[in-house]
Amino acid sequence: MEIGFVGLGRMGFNMTLRLLQGGHRVVAWNRSADKTQEAARHGAVAAASVPELVKALAGPRVVWIMLPAGGPVEDMIDQLVPLLAQGDLVVDGGNSNYKDDQRRAKRLAEAGLLYADAGTSGGIWGLKNGYCMMVGGPDEAIARLEPGLDTLAPPEGWLHCGPAGSGHFAKMIHNGIEYGMMQSYAEGFEILQGSEYSYDLAKLSHLWNQGSVVRSWLLELAELAFAKDPQLEGIRGWVEDSGEGRWTVLEAIDRNIPAEVLTLSLMRRFRSRQQDTFTDRVLAALRAEFGGHAVKDK
Ligand SMILES: NC(=O)c1ccc[n+]([C@@H]2O[C@H](COP(=O)([O-])OP(=O)(O)OC[C@H]3O[C@@H](n4cnc5c(N)ncnc54)[C@H](OP(=O)(O)O)[C@@H]3O)[C@@H](O)[C@H]2O)c1
Repeated sequence: MEIGFVGLGRMGFNMTLRLLQGGHRVVAWNRSADKTQEAARHGAVAAASVPELVKALAGPRVVWIMLPAGGPVEDMIDQLVPLLAQGDLVVDGGNSNYKDDQRRAKRLAEAGLLYADAGTSGGIWGLKNGYCMMVGGPDEAIARLEPGLDTLAPPEGWLHCGPAGSGHFAKMIHNGIEYGMMQSYAEGFEILQGSEYSYDLAKLSHLWNQGSVVRSWLLELAELAFAKDPQLEGIRGWVEDSGEGRWTVLEAIDRNIPAEVLTLSLMRRFRSRQQDTFTDRVLAALRAEFGGHAVKDK
């Protein structure tokens, strides 16, 4: 199929390569032109601007956006809408909020355009292994995207989840679960590392992937990380969050669902970025006040 690709970051660039390897025609644009040129060296048609990208595509067009969620996606849609023609399809493959999808699908439908949201998982390994895609939107849009999705995903690796927003909703919960799984492994490894036994954590990660109940791709990645740096001494324990974990927790709160593990996993990431917090100083001060317990000076 023919597809316009906007945003050639860590995800978009590799997705473009996978589409090219699958024999698709990709017209690519990136804000920084060097990446567009690099995509062209791999066989993409380079567009110097968004209008040029739209012009280089035959109708009905498919334009796939792979940008940071929020402002960048909104601005790109603002730019695309007046350039596109009746029946063209816009796909947001980034990590947008599903409520933004619902609003955008309505807005685009009013302009005679189709909209699909594609929650994408697989990270930088997706080029080799394929991307797991959770897709939302009308049947007509998904049918048009099918050849591209078949190439991007591994076998049985994409699902039409439902109407607009359902793809990103599934991706949001997927990432919430990811936070919880990562937190569980991390805590388990800390107890192992602090134990009286000298475990080789790379070997143990490898072992656990041989038929155990907790086997997973995350454990394969743990094995790689421990093999490189057994005590992870080269890494600071500072953990970012990208939005979906927060949205998952907010969704649970809105729906009165007690998602304890996912919530605490998010809180732990906040905590990882703090040292000697005001909360802890208050705790220490109160213990000192009521019980005369010792405090440590700064
Ligand atoms: N990385 C992952 O593992 C992963 C997995 C699944 C989904 N996602 C989602 O996929 C999307 C892209 O992620 P990524 O990891 O590829 O990000 P990235 O490596 O940081 O790349 C961001 C891309 O967006 C472009 N960009 C940023 N702000 C822009 C703006 N205001 N206008 C136009 N272009 C802009 C950048 O252009 P320049 O090159 O000019 O900076 C770059 O091409 C995000 O929504 C992310 O949450 C990421």
